[in-house]
Amino acid sequence: EKGVYAHYMLKEINEQPAVVRRILTNYYDTETSRIPKSLISAIQQSDRIYILAAGTSMHAGLIGKNLFEKITNIPTEVHIASEFAYQRPLLSKSPFFILVSQSGETADLRACLVELKTSNYQILTITNVPSSTLAREATFALEIHAGPEIAVASTKAYIAQIAILALLANSITESSIDMKKELSIVANAIENFLANESILTHVRNKLTKPNCFYIGRGLDYYTGLEASLKLKEISYIQTEGFAAGELKHGTIALIEEGTPVIALISDPKINHNTRSNLNEVSARGANTLHIVTSNCEEPEDEIILDTVHPLLTPMIMVVPTQLISYYAALERSHDIDKPRNLAKSVTVE
Ligand code: F6R
Repeated sequence: EKGVYAHYMLKEINEQPAVVRRILTNYYDTETSRIPKSLISAIQQSDRIYILAAGTSMHAGLIGKNLFEKITNIPTEVHIASEFAYQRPLLSKSPFFILVSQSGETADLRACLVELKTSNYQILTITNVPSSTLAREATFALEIHAGPEIAVASTKAYIAQIAILALLANSITESSIDMKKELSIVANAIENFLANESILTHVRNKLTKPNCFYIGRGLDYYTGLEASLKLKEISYIQTEGFAAGELKHGTIALIEEGTPVIALISDPKINHNTRSNLNEVSARGANTLHIVTSNCEEPEDEIILDTVHPLLTPMIMVVPTQLISYYAALERSHDIDKPRNLAKSVTVE
């Protein structure tokens, strides 16, 4: 089943362009999206969206928050499911809930769903498994069409969740974005990168210490959180995803000679701010690696990705970080598809 690939994770990373294209085929009837009208009007009537999720799906939710706020103007909050279930924040008058889960079986989310249903709230679940508990029990369910994800570390599901959140946000208002076109540009950009990547060399040169930092601002900060989770869970390297501007407020004390710092830069407006944070860590001996989109490129950058729509940059920026995790784990001879202490679906709270 793995075909030419040594591991499911590598296969699933490489499937990502096809996953994005499959979503477009499944969700578009020529130019109009197939998102149900009843779902669209339920969201239009709400005054605030609450996205609940865990782990990688929560990180997709953060990208979703930005999509919803920028495209629909509806304030959107993201909450960790295990916290929300027992420490419910003050809710708005007409909340709408989106629960994001690859497996559709995560117990922390089930706890939220049960709670919310007793209050008669409308709930959408976005899962990869239409027969899952969360998909069956919600008011609305959307499928991400990523195909079975076997590796414990989630990759293609994350990309697919963002694509669905983007399509959904774009269906709520008269949007000027041609999301079908923009997502197919993303699919091409991922494919283009995967065809020419040389991540293994960078992993050998840079990830030589037991710790690592990802830094970025805005959406790149969110990508850094996901990148660091992925690196921790399969390479066991202690990694932190950090808002680039916040590093100097204390954590920079941890930077010493050779500490790996991976910078994510995809927003021209804050390019120079992150570069100045890079200078700060370099001056303290950090071993830096720059992952950038072509609209932010400078001569010293190592990994250059195609520029895509600004709201969708996380979908391309995350791909080199997935491969960094994969190769770092491979170099350390870890069980990549079944990392220690983890299960694919977490059915205990
Ligand atoms: C990370 C990972 C986990 C899951 C989390 C939520 O690679 O796989 O962090 O994302 O356990 O799982 P789902 O999405 O199935 O609810």
